[in-house]
Amino acid sequence: NRVVLAYSGGLDTSVILKWLQQTYNCEVVTFTADLGQGEELEPARKKAEAAGVKPEHIFIDDLREEFVRDYVFPMMRANALYEGLYLLGTSIARPLIAKRQVEIARQVGADAVAHGATGKGNDQVRFELGYYALAPDIKVIAPWREWDLHSRTALIDFAEKHQISVPKDKRGESPFSTDANLLHTSSEGKVLEDPWEEVPDYVYSRTANPEDAPDAPEIITIDFERGDGIALNGKAMSPATLLAALNDLGRKHGIGRLDLVENRFVGMKSRGMYETPGGTIYTCAHRGIEQLTLDRGAAHLKDELAVRYAELVYNGFWFAPEREMLQAAIDHSQEKVAGTVRLKLYKGSVNVIGRKSPHSLYSEKVVTFEDDEGAYDQRDAAGFIKLNALRLRLLGRRDRG
Ligand code: ARG
Ligand code: SIN
Repeated sequence: NRVVLAYSGGLDTSVILKWLQQTYNCEVVTFTADLGQGEELEPARKKAEAAGVKPEHIFIDDLREEFVRDYVFPMMRANALYEGLYLLGTSIARPLIAKRQVEIARQVGADAVAHGATGKGNDQVRFELGYYALAPDIKVIAPWREWDLHSRTALIDFAEKHQISVPKDKRGESPFSTDANLLHTSSEGKVLEDPWEEVPDYVYSRTANPEDAPDAPEIITIDFERGDGIALNGKAMSPATLLAALNDLGRKHGIGRLDLVENRFVGMKSRGMYETPGGTIYTCAHRGIEQLTLDRGAAHLKDELAVRYAELVYNGFWFAPEREMLQAAIDHSQEKVAGTVRLKLYKGSVNVIGRKSPHSLYSEKVVTFEDDEGAYDQRDAAGFIKLNALRLRLLGRRDRG
């Protein structure tokens, strides 16, 4: 029997690798996804080899383009934000990892998959809904729900007993829990567990402190086509290249930091810190081009759908028909979302300062405060308001005397 483990090479999944070999006495196949987490992946190969995984059973795949093109950008078309603030950087990566993991299981003839998410969180749900949707009969092993290591401290003791290296942070302590990819880095646990305590500086890893960011603002442009970013400052870029370039700009200007208390799917509240530098700039730009190109009815319906869409992604229902239905509607709305947005980056903020589009619905002739030369007849508004007021007047007469 064989099991495919989603393996980052980090502390948790290194312990899990050892534990699976011991407990299930099975052959472990490791899968490490390059989602742009910015870490060397060869050490993961070395560690897997050292743990006795056969070379042909070590999979390290560069999924960066697929991640941004088929997951991040489609989600960004929806302007999805969970609880109004969270750009879903961890949530959106899980379905892709699950999909590839199941493919590898088929390829190597494994009947089980395993992941390193705890039994308290969202990620277990996202991974496993993905597995079951794509491989209905797969066996799932979630060590955190099974073993008797009941805390990170117990995990670290196990690691030390088995010569698994425990990374230390800059202060010589074992690290808090993080998850990183091209879209974001999330940090939870340890010092962050008191929601009244400000996030200390050392927790931030990919954005400058806005207070130390350059004093001069930077102006950039992003071009869109069918609702997707295609160029930065006039230079055409692939999805992953564009997001990476925006991450560099966001890092420099301290953009995309978020301290959030959120509601997990399992029912508890948790406090986390997110850094989403490029994604924050991108989302601002996407809204900027939609301002010009989307009809009001479409735009407002889209804003309602975005709340549902975000909840589905957060809760792990990426491969569910209701997410696909929403995606079809959202993609349809993006047909003419094209043009150029000009943005100003300055000390933690990103603002749209200009937008233009060949499909713009904006009519200066209609909206102008100057003479519109008959483009709009102001007298039409009197009847428009009177009929809209009819109910309010009837109610007013009855209830307000
Ligand atoms: N709370 C975030 C989410 O549910 C991040 C979870 C993973 N992050 C972590 N630091 N382990 O999407
Ligand atoms: C975990 O529980 O493994 C991380 C947090 C989460 O999934 O919500």
